[in-house]
Amino acid sequence: MALKDFFNQRYQQSNNIFGTEPIDIVAKAAKLLPKNAKVIELGVGEGRNALYLARRGHSVLGIDNAAAAIENLRNSLKKENLKMETIVTDASQYRFKQKFDLIIATGLLHFLPPDVGNSLIARIKKATKDGGLNLIATLASDHPRRKMPHIYKNQELKRLYQDWEIIIYEEVAGHFHGMAINPQFQPPKVAKLLARKPAPLKP
Ligand SMILES: C[S@@+](CC[C@H](N)C(=O)[O-])C[C@H]1O[C@@H](n2cnc3c(N)ncnc32)[C@H](O)[C@@H]1O
Repeated sequence: MALKDFFNQRYQQSNNIFGTEPIDIVAKAAKLLPKNAKVIELGVGEGRNALYLARRGHSVLGIDNAAAAIENLRNSLKKENLKMETIVTDASQYRFKQKFDLIIATGLLHFLPPDVGNSLIARIKKATKDGGLNLIATLASDHPRRKMPHIYKNQELKRLYQDWEIIIYEEVAGHFHGMAINPQFQPPKVAKLLARKPAPLKP
């Protein structure tokens, strides 16, 4: 089954399949954001991270290629009377039209072949404002059920940000994507990164 169909089916079967709490480093990133920050989440799913930031007054754009994810997210936005731009599209092909204070991709990059993911990371970095943040979480060891196109190697994600300030980098086994789908899975390892783009020195 194609990945998009798989996710559409899961999102139609039940709500909040990855929970309602943002992943831990999102709360840490939120403390570093300016007021009314511009944020984009690629592979936003049902929006646990994006909603957390929209509730805090940030201007969030959420993108996912599973229409059912965006439908569930729009329902949550209505319930909470929150505003957020949402688009159903392939994040790997997305052309950034503006720069962002924070770009998030949690649970997305392991689904993209390495060349596609690396080219997306290069565009994400470019589309980040000077002094802005990137927040990425991706699988760094095998998933018990799905063969992923890209399992990040030890330190691989960190190396892609060697020209940025690394605020958080960890490779940890823990509850992440897939756990909510089937709690008996052994937790795979996840690489989590929060990094800041250097701001040029003022003359
Ligand atoms: C594991 S979920 C994570 C959702 C959300 N980021 C979170 O942490 O709750 C991965 C999401 O990425 C989406 N996705 C996978 N490949 C995608 C692509 N090429 N373009 C856009 N979204 C994609 C899936 O539909 C799914 O909603």
